[in-house]
Amino acid sequence: MNKIHTICYVSKANPNLTNEEINDLFRHTEKNNRLNNVNGILLHSLGNFFQVLEGEEKYITNIYEKQILEDSRHSNVFEIYKGNISKPVFSNYLSHFQTITTSIQLDKIRDYLESNEKIPISDKLSRLLRPFIIFD
Ligand SMILES: Cc1cc2nc3c(=O)[nH]c(=O)nc-3n(C[C@H](O)[C@H](O)[C@H](O)COP(=O)(O)O)c2cc1C
Repeated sequence: MNKIHTICYVSKANPNLTNEEINDLFRHTEKNNRLNNVNGILLHSLGNFFQVLEGEEKYITNIYEKQILEDSRHSNVFEIYKGNISKPVFSNYLSHFQTITTSIQLDKIRDYLESNEKIPISDKLSRLLRPFIIFD
């Protein structure tokens, strides 16, 4: 089975970002990731971003290192998880990259993760997502 690469991180959003700029970033990310078969989520809450990327290793590593890490719209990128997984966590989740803007969507993701307890990182991700869900 082909290995899928995943990267999960939190970062501090540039405090000068307007809601419009965040929406633009979400739209652009969603479009790009759909085109490149990248699954995952991108959340913004309480001045932080939380992102999970899943897809082909070469593409994921490239976009993360050359674009995302260099992007001045955020800083203090803290990697939570990076590695290969045999089964993607988000592939069945509407089968697309999702940007999350409401607590209802967040609840759906939490439920999704909790229903996948056999995937080792699901439980960790679910715990990490809790503050985003409570305070959204
Ligand atoms: C928090 C954050 C997450 C991002 N995530 C993605 C992503 O998943 N996919 C993506 O294509 N660009 C993402 N970007 C944007 C990239 O840094 C970069 O602006 C974009 O890939 C450039 O795309 P282009 O070459 O098509 O203009 C993200 C930026 C930030 C600040």
